[in-house]
Amino acid sequence: MLLLASLCTISLARAQCSKECGPISSLLSSCSLPDLDADWHSFEHLPIERNLSGLEYASFGNGPETAQIATYEEARCFCPDAINALSDCEVCARSACDISCLTDPEDMESAIANQYEVAGYYHDDCMAFGYYANSTLSSPSTTLSSMPATTTAPEYNSECEICGVLHGQLAECDLVDLDISPKPPRTSVPAEGYDYYGSVLLNRTAAECLCTLPVLRRFDGCRSCITQKNDDLMEVFDLYRSECETLGYWTDAQVVEYNSSPSSTTSSTQSGPSSTSQAPESSSTGDSGAGNVRPTWLFLSLVLSGSALVCV
Ligand SMILES: *[C@@H]1O[C@H](CO)[C@@H](O)[C@H](O)[C@H]1NC(C)=O
Ligand SMILES: *[C@@H]1O[C@H](CO)[C@@H](O)[C@H](O)[C@H]1NC(C)=O
Ligand SMILES: *[C@@H]1O[C@H](CO)[C@@H](O)[C@H](O)[C@H]1NC(C)=O
Repeated sequence: MLLLASLCTISLARAQCSKECGPISSLLSSCSLPDLDADWHSFEHLPIERNLSGLEYASFGNGPETAQIATYEEARCFCPDAINALSDCEVCARSACDISCLTDPEDMESAIANQYEVAGYYHDDCMAFGYYANSTLSSPSTTLSSMPATTTAPEYNSECEICGVLHGQLAECDLVDLDISPKPPRTSVPAEGYDYYGSVLLNRTAAECLCTLPVLRRFDGCRSCITQKNDDLMEVFDLYRSECETLGYWTDAQVVEYNSSPSSTTSSTQSGPSSTSQAPESSSTGDSGAGNVRPTWLFLSLVLSGSALVCV
């Protein structure tokens, strides 16, 4: 009798949450990701560092650490819509299974507790890819050009020419410079319990403007240079770097190395400072979550012509 009653409670709870969690399940299925019913123990392992950069070794990591979502493609498929729906599913499942489902080992095996756990893992994963349930941050979309206006700003610091791209982009985006004092305070952007904490990049507009491929590819090189020449700049530099990554922007494998020999301060893999390298730098923008205007328009026109076809 008791068993029957609790079985009824469980199926009632699942029926209750099908409105909230159903849309998540559909998204998971259309993105070929394991459903909310998948055993939560299979998500339980430590998060795995995803290799988005394609680098053999990256001093600050090759990509986000996640339980299940492994690629930009999976994140782009699932997260933009899921990020605003996951909390409703979690809240519903959590209240349906009451507090014991999170503490009592037996209740943790119930179907509703499983949904709650798995939804939480997916929420963490989307956040690790830079998706937040707040329109101030929302998704790493691609509305701005990924190219900085210039690739050098030699008047900035002739000793670290490789930092010129970052510096030029900070100015272009109207963001605080690396030598700002005092250091900007840490603040948060609330996002339904999966909140963002940052100091220098506090909205998507700022992040999208700064965290372009030309900047991301020079982070390591610029850091090597200021480590040697001007390490007062390091603290704010590291904030920019980690906040770009927290918001979903990682370099690809075409990093620009710092050449520390005094006679040559230009990058080793680029042809030179005067060629703005539009073609090579924009060729793989789609992989970083930062794209330039053209593919966006191409995509839009495809969507538009597609929907036109559907209407006829
Ligand atoms: C990352 O991926 C690239 C390309 O697939 C590979 O060569 C590299 O070894 C990987 N790096 C790590 C740390 O696994
Ligand atoms: C989104 O973030 C802003 C701060 O950047 C905050 O004022 C606002 O309340 C947040 N919205 C929600 C729904 O949490
Ligand atoms: C976005 O953040 C930057 C600094 O991080 C700030 O200067 C700018 O005013 C913000 N823009 C909006 C629209 O909130």
